[in-house]
Amino acid sequence: MWSPFCLMFVLACQVLAIWPAPKSLSTGSSVLWIEPSVQITYNGGAVRWIPIRNDVLSSDTEQTLGEQVPYANGSQNGITSKAIVLQAVNRSLEVLFSQNLVPWKLVARGELSELEPAADSAQTCIKTITITQTGTDNSSSFKPLAGQVDESYNISIATDGTASITAVSYVGVLHALESFLQLFYQHSAGAGIYTNLAPIEISDAPKFQHRALNMDVSRNWYGVDDILKTIDAISWNKFNILHLHVSDAQSWPMEVPSIPELAQKGAYQAGLTYSPDDIKNIQTYAIARGVEVIIEFDMPGHTTSIGFSHPELIAAFNAMPWDTYCAEPPCGSLKLNSPAVYDFLEKLFADVLPRVSPYSSYFHTGGDEVNVNAYLLDDTVNSNDTAVIQPLIQKLVDRNHDQIRKAGLTPMVWEEMLLQWNITLGDDVVVQAWQSDEAVSAVTGKGHKVVGGNYNFWYLDCGKGQWLNFGNGASFQTYYPFNDYCSPTKSWRLVYSYDPLAGVPENETHLVLGAEVHIWSEQTDPVNLDSTIWPRASAAGEILWSGRQDASGQNRSQITAAPRLAEMRERMLNRGIQVGPVQMIFCTQSNATECAL
Ligand SMILES: *[C@@H]1O[C@H](CO)[C@@H](O)[C@H](O)[C@H]1NC(C)=O
Ligand SMILES: *[C@@H]1O[C@H](CO)[C@@H](O)[C@H](O)[C@H]1NC(C)=O
Ligand SMILES: *[C@@H]1O[C@H](CO)[C@@H](O)[C@H](O)[C@H]1NC(C)=O
Ligand SMILES: *[C@@H]1O[C@H](CO)[C@@H](O)[C@H](O)[C@H]1NC(C)=O
Ligand SMILES: *[C@@H]1O[C@H](CO)[C@@H](O)[C@H](O)[C@H]1NC(C)=O
Ligand SMILES: *[C@@H]1O[C@H](CO)[C@@H](O)[C@H](O)[C@H]1NC(C)=O
Ligand SMILES: *[C@@H]1O[C@H](CO)[C@@H](O)[C@H](O)[C@H]1NC(C)=O
Ligand SMILES: *[C@@H]1O[C@H](CO)[C@@H](O)[C@H](O)[C@H]1NC(C)=O
Ligand SMILES: *[C@@H]1O[C@H](CO)[C@@H](O)[C@H](O)[C@H]1NC(C)=O
Repeated sequence: MWSPFCLMFVLACQVLAIWPAPKSLSTGSSVLWIEPSVQITYNGGAVRWIPIRNDVLSSDTEQTLGEQVPYANGSQNGITSKAIVLQAVNRSLEVLFSQNLVPWKLVARGELSELEPAADSAQTCIKTITITQTGTDNSSSFKPLAGQVDESYNISIATDGTASITAVSYVGVLHALESFLQLFYQHSAGAGIYTNLAPIEISDAPKFQHRALNMDVSRNWYGVDDILKTIDAISWNKFNILHLHVSDAQSWPMEVPSIPELAQKGAYQAGLTYSPDDIKNIQTYAIARGVEVIIEFDMPGHTTSIGFSHPELIAAFNAMPWDTYCAEPPCGSLKLNSPAVYDFLEKLFADVLPRVSPYSSYFHTGGDEVNVNAYLLDDTVNSNDTAVIQPLIQKLVDRNHDQIRKAGLTPMVWEEMLLQWNITLGDDVVVQAWQSDEAVSAVTGKGHKVVGGNYNFWYLDCGKGQWLNFGNGASFQTYYPFNDYCSPTKSWRLVYSYDPLAGVPENETHLVLGAEVHIWSEQTDPVNLDSTIWPRASAAGEILWSGRQDASGQNRSQITAAPRLAEMRERMLNRGIQVGPVQMIFCTQSNATECAL
């Protein structure tokens, strides 16, 4: 039956399907098809496209993708917006025509063919897509500080088949392309690719400036490909930052050419390292997707892996019982009053910072979970008295941050540096809160910039159970049934209920740059990476892009989010990410009222 009611249902479902939700959206009910021969221009120049999968494409399609403009091969000045946009258009067309979605899981059982446009109807096609970038990108567009890039975009699709995308920056164009893709479906009878929502007007811009995934690549090894595909997936969800927690106690996978032994002995195994070229490729790949990579060297705690090559620099190296000296084994903390440590850090940063600074504006120096007892075993300190330790940490942070600023970068730290250790930080420093909502408002209360990501909501590793083993003694009884410290699992619904601004007074909300969703890797590796991050990070992505509240100030609802998230899941699956299910098919095929309470 093709009743107006069904029509309204499918429209309601598809109208709302863009993830994350745009700021404003209006749609109609006309059908438009799109074909590979669609004419595309970028600032007036024709964009031509090389199709790689000929099965769905007509043979007379253009054989070249415009000019090949080199980008990111040597310096930030080598990066051009045009090259990035042309490649993004190329990728988008591949997705549109080769990885699109027949939405059978998203409409009522048996009703798909009735809701689709008739395959043999007169077809109006999208004739032109006019992409206009109204602003000029400069060096900060490719490695912005929070707020330096205007990420807004507009999309307009008229029923006569003319489509336009406008944005101020190249990043806005990339966001627009991701939204554009989500307007189209593949016909189940192979009739082509269509939207039934024309005319369409979208005007969109992000709520928060700092929208990040923090990925721990020290606890378990990830190949460069795992990181690149994760950059792809976060960019589809309109994140703009990948925070790489690249070093921790367990391994040091980053090659530092002037200190080769660091990764030679610190990596889990020969070859499980990131070369300078790998890091550069990760950063430039990310830039081409509107994502900035922020690298973290966590210190002074979480540094045992430096001790695999330089035990003389590390206090409480492998000390036991470990729970006296650190948060998790193997223990080890940079010695705090050691000229050798200072020399090492000078050399480390002198090597790394000039290589990352062309492609990023931030560098994270960590600072979480400092355990005072490690310094009982530090021959340069011999004390666990905070009054003794605090000035030494201050000196270490000052040293690091001076060198970071001189390299043109802005420092980040974990909240403990400010809130627990009362370290005096520059106004430029971004503080990363993780322990509570109160930590976010405590940081803003001190006038500092902050990013949130409360572990009770946004730690995606939680709920897998303990990774420690327990003998058949008292600890077995104590820890039974072996839940981890932050269990239970943070469901997408819980992730979706987090508000980065919770508890922050109105006059301080401008200090909240955004938040990060976290994947720590004690129990995550390339095998379960995708399904551990997704779809839950998508829920975080919408909070960051669209805000916890909608335009009318109401909390966003799981009930209206679920069908859109389920659709995003299907689209991501088609694009090669093993996203876990949002709901069973019964629910995704029902109309959002049945699987609700
Ligand atoms: C980038 O590579 C191209 C050749 O692919 C070369 O012509 C150009 O000079 C290089 N740019 C930089 C900045 O190295
Ligand atoms: C276009 O994208 C495909 C992957 O979808 C890639 O193989 C091809 O190299 C791209 N072409 C250009 C010119 O970037
Ligand atoms: C780039 O342009 C933006 C927006 O106009 C501006 O805020 C920023 O300071 C500029 N950066 C540089 C390096 O010129
Ligand atoms: C998008 O449209 C709005 C409303 O018409 C306009 O104010 C804004 O400048 C447009 N943005 C771009 C990037 O074209
Ligand atoms: C500091 O060390 C002493 C032993 O020297 C110990 O009794 C005390 O609990 C430690 N303080 C903390 C905060 O762990
Ligand atoms: C930091 O300041 C708070 C509040 O004044 C105080 O309770 C705490 O002991 C201080 N921490 C250190 C390490 O001095
Ligand atoms: C909105 O969500 C927040 C959590 O993000 C919650 O504390 C608050 O109670 C909710 N408000 C309403 C009206 O449900
Ligand atoms: C915000 O207002 C409160 C209460 O008036 C005040 O104590 C606080 O200092 C203000 N915060 C900032 C950053 O000005
Ligand atoms: C949703 O499903 C329920 C139960 O099947 C039905 O009563 C209701 O009419 C449906 N609503 C819409 C908007 O399709």
